[in-house]
Amino acid sequence: MGIEVYGELINAAVSARNNAYIPYSGFAVGAAVLTEDGNIYSGCNIENSSYGATVCAERTAIFKAVSEGETGISAIAVCGGPKSIGIEQYCMPCGICRQVLAEFAAKDAQVIVARSLDDYKVFAIDELLPCAFKL
Ligand code: THU
Repeated sequence: MGIEVYGELINAAVSARNNAYIPYSGFAVGAAVLTEDGNIYSGCNIENSSYGATVCAERTAIFKAVSEGETGISAIAVCGGPKSIGIEQYCMPCGICRQVLAEFAAKDAQVIVARSLDDYKVFAIDELLPCAFKL
């Protein structure tokens, strides 16, 4: 997978982050997945006054792809940080999102955790969720 694809995914994640609905935490996250069919779906975190109903940006993006019939994910980019400050940190996917990603990730899927277009880390899903539960 080329560096141009990383750039496209990071741009999509950064742009989706602008739509984060975060009245409770103020922490804005954006994500974008590349499907095996070559399409990009992006998503943001969407909070709820019943906090447990909050959905992370990664799952928003993944579920958008799956609900369009695309169940193979070859890469995901994630970026996040406090709305007031910006993308100051490497925003690692939470445990629930790692489990959801493991369900749909292609064998060699890449997880790109980005601070900017030229500052990112790339992980394999197995690295982030070793010994994943599968039925
Ligand atoms: N959040 C994500 O969107 N993705 C993650 O992987 C970690 C956490 C969101 C959920 C909540 O809206 C905010 O970040 C603070 O936890």
